Amino acid sequence: MRVLVTGGAGYIGSTAVDILTTQGYEVSVFDDCSTGHGDNVPTGITFIQGSLLNRSEIAQALKGCDAVMHFAGKSLVGESVEKPELYWSVNVGGTRNLLDEMRVARISKLIFSSSAATYGEPEVLPILESASNKPTNAYGATKLAVDAMITDEARGHGLSAASLRYFNVAGALKSTRGWLTERHNPETHLIPNVLRSTPANPVKIFGSDWPTKDGTCIRDYVHVVDLIDAHIKALNSLSKPGHEIFNLGSGGGYSVREVIAAASDAIGSQIPFIDSPRRAGDPAVLIADISKAKRVLGWEPTRNLEAMVSDTLASFG
Ligand SMILES: NC(=O)c1ccc[n+]([C@@H]2O[C@H](COP(=O)([O-])OP(=O)(O)OC[C@H]3O[C@@H](n4cnc5c(N)ncnc54)[C@H](O)[C@@H]3O)[C@@H](O)[C@H]2O)c1
Repeated sequence: MRVLVTGGAGYIGSTAVDILTTQGYEVSVFDDCSTGHGDNVPTGITFIQGSLLNRSEIAQALKGCDAVMHFAGKSLVGESVEKPELYWSVNVGGTRNLLDEMRVARISKLIFSSSAATYGEPEVLPILESASNKPTNAYGATKLAVDAMITDEARGHGLSAASLRYFNVAGALKSTRGWLTERHNPETHLIPNVLRSTPANPVKIFGSDWPTKDGTCIRDYVHVVDLIDAHIKALNSLSKPGHEIFNLGSGGGYSVREVIAAASDAIGSQIPFIDSPRRAGDPAVLIADISKAKRVLGWEPTRNLEAMVSDTLASFG
């Protein structure tokens, strides 16, 4: 089976490329390298450098493919508030183009990178896929819109698809070419930022007065290797027209202070941090209910916070 990995030059997509090829899948990569890195794509892989906004480039990338893993997109919450038009254009318009070209090419299997940002402030914890969707920013709104578009595509045109709603993805993969890791700029994710914290530029804790055990926000983290395992299981589960949504997390959570403590243990000294005011729009606790992915896909995350921290640390060299 040949899988087109859109966003295959990015953090999560490049990890997917490596694991898919190791498992014997043929892979093509489609990426405009706007936030990804061409050197993440192994030599010998079919790599079409092009944009989701260009249908003929998508058509070229889809040639010979049987399925698509769609990671490409814009994913910075803050940027999405400042430039909503960019997010609606790339995430929604770009995915519309992809779905249209998949239909032309008669490719009917799709795995989509959705996000926990679709849920917004949770009313019930842990968060089930059936929870209400009230995104608090344009990023979450565009992921939700794409999920709705995929549902309609499945109903109207027989697409067989799964949307995977990631909570916080972390960790790294040591490939034969070296570490595949987060190289975002700006980096907004906690674990890499904690590991890069210095006394001159300490990591900020946004709020230490939340209604949680230590006053800091609690988030659910999933290792990128476990995450890709779920993608491959989801791909293999696609057998008939329809659209299923799965949460991917660990089913548990860690506070910001617990992440800093785990990183301090890994480094062997206290990581510097600074207490800062809360950020608007941050929920206190986000934890996934992952029982559907466990039950339907037979998926089980196996790597804990310590592994996510130590792999990220090792990947920074
Ligand atoms: N990292 C997380 O914790 C997380 C959480 C939830 C969802 N997601 C989703 O997972 C996916 C991958 O995230 P990531 O962390 O690897 O981000 P990333 O920025 O490293 O990867 C995204 C890739 O998409 C490419 N891209 C962007 N716009 C494009 C366009 N118009 N045409 C073609 N390619 C384009 C970028 O160049 C990049 O390589 C995204 O869709 C993101 O929204 C990530």
